Amino acid sequence: MTRVAELPTPGLLLDLEVLEANLGRMAARARSLGVSLRPHIKTHKCVEIAQRQQALGAQGLTVSTLYEAKVFADHGFTDLTWAFPVVINRISEAATLAERVTLRLVVDTMAAVEALEKSGQPFHVFLKVDCGYHRAGMNPESSAALDVARRIAGSRTLKFCGILSHSGHAYHGKSISEICGTAEQERSVMVNFAEKLRGEGITVPAVSVGSTPAMSQVVNLDGITEARPGNYAFYDYTQVVLGSCTLQDVAVTVQSSVVSTQPGAKHSVIDAGALALSKDVGSELGPRTMGEILGRDVRVASVSQEHGVTSGPLPVGTRVRIVPNHSCLTVAHFDEYVVVKGDEVVDRWKIWRGRD
Ligand SMILES: Cc1ncc(COP(=O)(O)O)c(C=O)c1O
Repeated sequence: MTRVAELPTPGLLLDLEVLEANLGRMAARARSLGVSLRPHIKTHKCVEIAQRQQALGAQGLTVSTLYEAKVFADHGFTDLTWAFPVVINRISEAATLAERVTLRLVVDTMAAVEALEKSGQPFHVFLKVDCGYHRAGMNPESSAALDVARRIAGSRTLKFCGILSHSGHAYHGKSISEICGTAEQERSVMVNFAEKLRGEGITVPAVSVGSTPAMSQVVNLDGITEARPGNYAFYDYTQVVLGSCTLQDVAVTVQSSVVSTQPGAKHSVIDAGALALSKDVGSELGPRTMGEILGRDVRVASVSQEHGVTSGPLPVGTRVRIVPNHSCLTVAHFDEYVVVKGDEVVDRWKIWRGRD
């Protein structure tokens, strides 16, 4: 039996018990809010975790790349939403995939709808709505949004799945009540737009929302049919600062070791830099950190490619476990999870991080 303290560094540790508690809690939350859960697997990119989500009642998966869609289709997942504005130059690949699974695509432009129609493939299509994040998605007040919805719903080939939003602006909430307000804003924007479309005679099967901070705080999802949080599987230091979870709920840590401490220096160098932790600076509400070192008074103060610099000195050879600012980006730097229970290694799971 290998112990965590015997592993080479840097490495990505996944605490199985914490993961399973997180998955169970969000599944129960979705059930009590009366929505189905379609977890975003871009956080973990891991078949073993998606299988656990499915066993807990997930109704399909959300992916952010066609590569993820193909991988999860190859592993038996048959209902996938590619929750990213459709990449027009990849429609023919999407069409091939759509012949063997239910692949739901997302559009927020007339140009994308036209390209999908031109392919002749009977794609399932969501209209992406801007619920206040102002990244992608159509303004639900605009006539353009109505035109695109009418065009999909009236198409001879496409099948209209409904409307979809992502409350990424919940990450900028300054308090739990502000995050609750953002979740309610997303709900009301989406429910009102669905009603408007129904008033136009358009059937709106699904009203899909979601982000981890919003799903962690929301109290009412009346009128919403599904939620797509992803980060909740692991959480991270940003979610701790936002109040979505506690430090004990974070399921992934990077194990690193001290490689350089000079006499009199006020810092050390560890073998976890940007290519292990990412360069995500975390929430503006939290302390300035590039990663929280568990059980020590020092944190990761800065990162370059492979070097991490700590805010205080530690003896060379010391092992540290770091809670990343953004687990989704951190995970994407590793090929596998070292799955642990306490300080014992119990498994290794592949991270499907390709781009093809
Ligand atoms: C379209 C979409 N849906 C859902 C999510 C999941 O959000 P979170 O990572 O906060 O759980 C994301 C994350 O960026 C997203 O882009």
